Amino acid sequence: MKFAPGTKVAVLYGGFSAEREVSLKSGKAVGLALQELGFMVSLIDVDRDVFARLKAAQIEVVFIALHGAYGEDGTIQGGLEYLKIPYTGPGVMASSIAMNKVMTKRILLSHEIMTPDYTVPADSDGEVAVPAGGYPLVVKPVAEGSSLGMSIVTDAADLKPALLKARKLSPQVMIENYIPGIELTAAVLHGEALPLIEIRARGGVYDYQAKYTKGFSEYLVPAPLDGAIEHKVKDLALASARALGCERGAVRVDFRLDMANRPYVIEINTIPGMTETSLLPQAAEAAGMDFVALIDCMLQGAGLDLAPF
Ligand SMILES: Nc1ncnc2c1ncn2[C@@H]1O[C@H](COP(=O)(O)OP(=O)(O)O)[C@@H](O)[C@H]1O
Ligand SMILES: [Mg+2]
Repeated sequence: MKFAPGTKVAVLYGGFSAEREVSLKSGKAVGLALQELGFMVSLIDVDRDVFARLKAAQIEVVFIALHGAYGEDGTIQGGLEYLKIPYTGPGVMASSIAMNKVMTKRILLSHEIMTPDYTVPADSDGEVAVPAGGYPLVVKPVAEGSSLGMSIVTDAADLKPALLKARKLSPQVMIENYIPGIELTAAVLHGEALPLIEIRARGGVYDYQAKYTKGFSEYLVPAPLDGAIEHKVKDLALASARALGCERGAVRVDFRLDMANRPYVIEINTIPGMTETSLLPQAAEAAGMDFVALIDCMLQGAGLDLAPF
């Protein structure tokens, strides 16, 4: 065991992103599990003094339970590399690439992993270029999470309002072909695929409300899929995580499976939601690992990417 009970662990949570509320819940659940495991736990709601606070408390390892900008995007990870405090989850580069859905697609496409066609519209009032497959389209910010700023657009008249909504959250926005079919998520824990989850959102759209309101989505764990398709999706999840450099930590690869059972990777989450009812804990549970064991496994995988200076 790398980190024994009694080790000083900080859980970083809260922070500055639009996903602050979700992170507060993730962090509290993680903190309780770490306490149960016997660690000396400090819960730190991240602010500009976070690095000074970590030093002052002589923290030995950090569990990052932040979602979105200034947490999931490599910035916190960079500071921890400087301080030489090991942290959970992927390193600086993988985190910042995965936070950006366009950069993620470039990497996936270079590995011939299917992802919906997309365009990045210019920030102007002119004609908006849409991907060749046409409507319906999905408009979303390039660097956000929790479905914030996302719209499904079926009518050309709704495209510009959808772009405006996404731009309020992120300067860069993208347009993708909508993939009809079913939604799957594949958790990868330290390079191994956990059971797949099928998500059925009430009303068919997996938006913020469907994600965080009890009863608004149904989760099928493990997903009731044909064995060959399950295998293919898991392989793609592992290949996607590897392509982005997510060797460490627990990541979640989101998929759409179209009507012809073709899997498309939608995005990769490097710090998935960590409440006891979140998707990654559900997938771990289906693999026989309870929440506390999952948190221990994630903590034991904490590390640093850069060579010592
Ligand atoms: N191309 C697409 N086709 C169908 N649904 C999509 C597509 N892109 C996104 N979605 C829907 O929007 C949700 C949020 O999009 P996603 O890219 O995963 O961003 P976030 O980082 O906000 O989770 C997905 O879970 C899915 O339900
Ligand atoms: Mg997602």
